Amino acid sequence: MSVAVYLPNPDRCEDWCVMLRELLPGWTIEPLDAVQDPAAVDYAVVWRPRTGDLARFANLKATVSIGAGIDHVLADTSLPQGVPIIRTVGADLTQRMREYVALHVLRHHRDMPAMLAAQARGAWFQPVVPPATGRRVGVMGLGNLGKVAATTLAALGFQVTGWARTPREVPGVEVHAGVEGLDAFLAGTEILVNLLPLTPETTGILNAGLFARLAPGAALINAARGPHLVDDDLVAALDAGQLGQATLDVFHVEPLPKDHRFWTDPRITITAHTASLIDPGTGARIIARNLHDFDRDGTVADLADAARGY
Ligand code: NAP
Ligand code: GLV
Repeated sequence: MSVAVYLPNPDRCEDWCVMLRELLPGWTIEPLDAVQDPAAVDYAVVWRPRTGDLARFANLKATVSIGAGIDHVLADTSLPQGVPIIRTVGADLTQRMREYVALHVLRHHRDMPAMLAAQARGAWFQPVVPPATGRRVGVMGLGNLGKVAATTLAALGFQVTGWARTPREVPGVEVHAGVEGLDAFLAGTEILVNLLPLTPETTGILNAGLFARLAPGAALINAARGPHLVDDDLVAALDAGQLGQATLDVFHVEPLPKDHRFWTDPRITITAHTASLIDPGTGARIIARNLHDFDRDGTVADLADAARGY
């Protein structure tokens, strides 16, 4: 079998090739840009492929996203139609995301940014915050990551609501579904966590209209994708006090440009798309197993639904 690997950073691309060669002995694994015979390529393993990269491979059997989201693959306007897309998910990614969400929800809940600002002023600052049981936290998206994030927050004692496209039961979580459930989900939410996939329906969903439906002074945590957020609406909501704070892990352009206003805004905490950054060692093992399974009989647990967008 022949596998073409692409990540924008050539050094990281080479690292992934080395790991996959060890895990798939007998397979030909090479950087996508080094492929001499595109017709021989069976599988592409990619993160943010360039438009046209995958269309070169006329006999592609499947594309593997190096990550949970497939938006970066679907963004290719010349993507070969009908070629299955396999996600990379698993306990490692889920654990990392639950840590990130717990960290930042607790940070907003306990007013940590204001405490750090007080320390910088040498001020003795003793805010009285409610206990977690008095704090309403909403999680948008109840898939692999959102469900674990929501149940982790519920275990910490928060009043947790969740929002998905379709109804389901999640222990300890009040679930709302679909566009018709969005108002009830947002009402009274003091900390909002976004873990939706990026699709035409969810692009720009974190906007002025949505912020207006949260509790005044709410905090936003966006750990999903940059284009979920309307940047200007975030700044306006912070200026108006409708939002108090935001933690952003993802951005329209990554790395976030050096002159972007978010860098110096004290109301915004920036992390560099590290909420649940895939660990190459673990990721390569998951991908090798998925390729092996798919190559055996065309079935694999982590198949994405390209028509749905996630
Ligand atoms: P997933 O398992 O595919 O779950 C997606 C969830 O979103 C599902 O619950 C789905 O509802 C819901 N959803 C989709 N469209 C919706 C809509 N229009 N309205 C309401 N709910 C909707 O995805 P995941 O593995 O949890 O990952 C979520 C996203 O996190 C990824 O797509 C990626 O963009 C992002 N991510 C970020 C990082 C990071 O480091 N920052 C790491 C990994 C992933 P149904 O269940 O009803 O279908
Ligand atoms: C990371 O952003 C992923 O989609 O796994």
